[in-house]
Amino acid sequence: MNRFHPDAIWSSSTERYRYAAERDLASFGAMLSDAEVGRWLWFAPMSADDAIAYFRPFVEQQQEALERGEAADTLVFTVEDAGTGEFLGQGAIVAVPGSDRGFEIGFQLCEHAWGRGVGTRLSQFLRTFAIEGLDAYRIEGACLEGNEASAKLLSNLGLRQEATLVDYRLRDGVRHTELRFGARVRDLVISDVSEG
Ligand SMILES: CC(C)(COP(=O)(O)OP(=O)(O)OC[C@H]1O[C@@H](n2cnc3c(N)ncnc32)[C@H](O)[C@@H]1OP(=O)(O)O)[C@@H](O)C(=O)NCCC(=O)NCCS
Repeated sequence: MNRFHPDAIWSSSTERYRYAAERDLASFGAMLSDAEVGRWLWFAPMSADDAIAYFRPFVEQQQEALERGEAADTLVFTVEDAGTGEFLGQGAIVAVPGSDRGFEIGFQLCEHAWGRGVGTRLSQFLRTFAIEGLDAYRIEGACLEGNEASAKLLSNLGLRQEATLVDYRLRDGVRHTELRFGARVRDLVISDVSEG
């Protein structure tokens, strides 16, 4: 099956990844309105309705592009447990404006899925997809200072911390420093066994 097909699916022994669809929006909303999940997200706190309204256009544009056999500028994936089908979270690959073949990756998981490698495997899937599916020249990612798990995931991918944006994000009246990670694909030293 074409990689850019609405029903494409990628499975490992533990998780499966597929393009997010309308039916996933309620799960996205429930996850992103959870205070623990949103603790380090610059765009949180967010109500379930706001999260659904934010993601709906991306999912719709993605569906339209996939029906033409093409990739949208923002790809949103749903992560499920490979055995039970339980919703675990989402990942995204976003074309960076003005950076030809530059892509930013992002990931959010439900709290019950944390701490058992789901994020590691998801981030590896996103990196592999960007390289093999989108011919990425650069890959980047960002997190707020203090989000140790996310910073670890990004550096474990072989990305380097390229910038520290002091007090960049304003959240709930508090300024947060953002750490930006990135690398040219040709400079990546990939030491893991990638998913995807
Ligand atoms: C960030 C997130 C995706 C990590 O997923 P996860 O499945 O829990 O991560 P993993 O189990 O694969 O662990 C990844 C690494 O982070 C480390 N880690 C996990 N939780 C940690 C924590 N609370 N503090 C420090 N390190 C942590 C692990 O030890 C592992 O490092 P290692 O492989 O070098 O040992 C998940 O915590 C999450 O969804 N958080 C809420 C949303 C969010 O912050 N998303 C990122 C936005 S930038």
